[in-house]
Amino acid sequence: MQLSQLYSHIIAQLEGAHIDVPDLEARIILETRAQISWSDIIADGDRVVAPEPLKLIEGDMQRRIAGEPLSRIYGQREFWGLNFEISPDTLDPRPDTETLIEAALKAYPAPETPPKTILDLGAGSGCILISLLSEWDEASGVGIDKSPEAIKTAQKNAISNNVADRSSFKTGDWGRGIDQKFDLIVSNPPYIANQIIKTLSKEVQNHDPILALDGGNDGLDAYRQIFSELSSLLNVGGRAFFEIGFDQEASVVRLAEESRIRVKHVHHDLAGQPRVVEIYSGDK
Ligand SMILES: C[S@@+](CC[C@H](N)C(=O)[O-])C[C@H]1O[C@@H](n2cnc3c(N)ncnc32)[C@H](O)[C@@H]1O
Repeated sequence: MQLSQLYSHIIAQLEGAHIDVPDLEARIILETRAQISWSDIIADGDRVVAPEPLKLIEGDMQRRIAGEPLSRIYGQREFWGLNFEISPDTLDPRPDTETLIEAALKAYPAPETPPKTILDLGAGSGCILISLLSEWDEASGVGIDKSPEAIKTAQKNAISNNVADRSSFKTGDWGRGIDQKFDLIVSNPPYIANQIIKTLSKEVQNHDPILALDGGNDGLDAYRQIFSELSSLLNVGGRAFFEIGFDQEASVVRLAEESRIRVKHVHHDLAGQPRVVEIYSGDK
């Protein structure tokens, strides 16, 4: 089969399966399995594709059409311009979470000194901590996750993104047992109310780990626990950033107030939804 035919064939199949951005996914498939770039498709459409990659692509297409995200098929996800390995025990990092990275970076505009120590609660693939460390050369950080398998993946990602010497990833239960304070705390905890989980898309239900999704009866269990621990984890003058669900602004802000935590700002994502609650621990 020629390259341009293969490209059209993949797009047609993805469209038939109601996949959102079929052309982008077709390009990722061709790039991953046949090392074919977008410019090859344009400039060299007559090229015949070898049988080997064709067979792999056919297998990928079956899995994709059955509802498996490409990131799961290839075990990779790009986040904040970096490449992250993902596994069945890690959440597939979401573009919305980049709002948290942007908000944290914005909180320390030059010439303000960036945070020296960062704690990431519920680190998963490590995408939040590793992205921040890639921005701040002088910072170091600790990532905590309940899943030992997620911790292994985060450690690999720290190595592949050249921040292993400034990061450590450990299993734990939120802040329990941590006897250090940090300048910055970041967290994208599980925040889906458990009754809602069964209404999520099959891509999420079947492929993201339940530990990364389930926020208890009202979706707020993790915030409750972390907020109760925050004062013993955050340095005076420190900040914390929490990702929230699009409809959780009022409830998370209320929870923070009940825990005597000062909410400085609520940041919105690209779709205009409230997405990140910024907390400031007070003057030094
Ligand atoms: C929504 S995922 C976020 C993962 C990653 N930070 C990201 O943004 O892609 C939440 C993470 O919290 C972890 N987690 C759930 N309960 C936990 C607990 N009690 N203590 C620590 N981590 C927990 C899950 O294993 C999962 O990796």
